[in-house]
Amino acid sequence: MPRYRLLIVDDEPRMTQVLGILGERWGYEVRTASDADHALRELHDFPAEIVLTDLKMPGMSGDELLNQIRSRHPETPVVMMTAYATVKSAVDAMRNGAFDYIMKPFENEELRLTLERAAEYARLKQDNAYMRRELGLRYRMDNIIGESEGIHNVLRMIERVAPTRATVLVTGESGTGKELVAKAIHFRSARATGPYVRVNCAALVETLLESELFGHEKGAFTGATRTHRGKFEEADGGTIFLDEIAETSNNFQAKLLRVLQEGVITRVGGNANIRVDVRIVTATNRDLEEYVQQGKFREDLFFRLNVVPVHIPSLKERPSDIPLLAEHFLKAAIEEHDLPPKRLSEDAIELLKSHTWPGNVRELENTIERAMILSPEQVITAADLWLPGEQNSTGSSGHQRRLAEGQASPREVHIPVTILDKPLGGFLDEMAKIRVLHALDRTEWRKQEAADLLGIDRATLYRQMKKFGISGS
Ligand SMILES: Nc1ncnc2c1ncn2[C@@H]1O[C@H](COP(=O)(O)OP(=O)(O)OP(=O)(O)O)[C@@H](O)[C@H]1O
Ligand SMILES: [Mg+2]
Repeated sequence: MPRYRLLIVDDEPRMTQVLGILGERWGYEVRTASDADHALRELHDFPAEIVLTDLKMPGMSGDELLNQIRSRHPETPVVMMTAYATVKSAVDAMRNGAFDYIMKPFENEELRLTLERAAEYARLKQDNAYMRRELGLRYRMDNIIGESEGIHNVLRMIERVAPTRATVLVTGESGTGKELVAKAIHFRSARATGPYVRVNCAALVETLLESELFGHEKGAFTGATRTHRGKFEEADGGTIFLDEIAETSNNFQAKLLRVLQEGVITRVGGNANIRVDVRIVTATNRDLEEYVQQGKFREDLFFRLNVVPVHIPSLKERPSDIPLLAEHFLKAAIEEHDLPPKRLSEDAIELLKSHTWPGNVRELENTIERAMILSPEQVITAADLWLPGEQNSTGSSGHQRRLAEGQASPREVHIPVTILDKPLGGFLDEMAKIRVLHALDRTEWRKQEAADLLGIDRATLYRQMKKFGISGS
């Protein structure tokens, strides 16, 4: 048990003296104050975890002191003592947020137990606040990378809206980080220690989506062999993230609207209203307002969901974030794949900045990861990025340019650029094949040099070339 600080406030010096001795004996670090003003000054450099105060004092009363402490240190439990304990004054104090009250004269043991409960409460509050701060910080510091004005706006919005219960609609192109934002909102809210539940609305047909979200009663439909709690019940006390909300049917939208209006759900096949305390965050990469105009999305639901809109700009609109993000993903890949550290060359960074990124941050992440794995050297060059280069000023990426200039082997034409979209099975072979081709290309097909580059011997290189159907030229 840590030593808790206890501030004792009473206008009777004999009283503070006796209580002080008791408090010390029970293991508290004690300070005393003879009136409320004095107590507030003490709290400045003695941030007490617990305050024990008399109710009736000359000058500022214990009630007033309680109010002051509640507004400045809302988490600090305040225990009131009173000699004139009419039920009313005690109840008033409790209603004003006192932690507990105790009537004078009292037994030492009674006071000891009351203070112990207050200490336990202070400890819980601290743990909670600490955990929330930790989680919040982690999500702020590590996860949402960027220093552009656009990202700063998003971070500011998150900060402002997270502590509230407001429904948030996150919009942005695919891969801009909508899910990251949803999580940040949850983990920076008072619900951080409650559940965070994500549902991809596009992944399920209407009927399944309904039973997934609202649950179902036993026998509600064929195959419903037992009662099933839905995601809304699972998320009680926390946050539900409804991803791809635009892809839902009109019928489903009507049901969701009811949850928002009434705060209750009904399981499929049931009729009991189940009250849920859930904060709703939704996301879409569609233009929901356009969907509303086209009659594909209910207008009333749109207004309910769009209480606070958070829009994430596309990566193209904030190229200044690219080097920072690239650096972040480089580090992540090094950790994940246990690779030696590598860095990006100047021209690689330039190419990254000029690419248009239709897949936004996700595409950048994949590009960096691929380059980390495939680049044979410590410095990742523009060519190692395997980006289609139509959009950038150099005209094309390294291998396409060399190909055009007749310097590269035509075999390269068959190298898939979208290798990360492939299933894992063929992926590793494909990756090895690309590495071999890459090394051969770099060394202008001098086998010994290519083998050295790959860190294998010549015989192994020949075996791999044979295996991958690369004929040595
Ligand atoms: N600002 C950022 N900082 C760090 N990583 C990011 C950032 N934005 C996105 N990412 C990463 O990019 C990937 C895509 O992000 P996310 O899944 O949140 O996108 P999305 O907007 O939900 O995309 P979609 O519409 O395709 O579902 C994730 O791996 C995420 O961690
Ligand atoms: Mg997403």
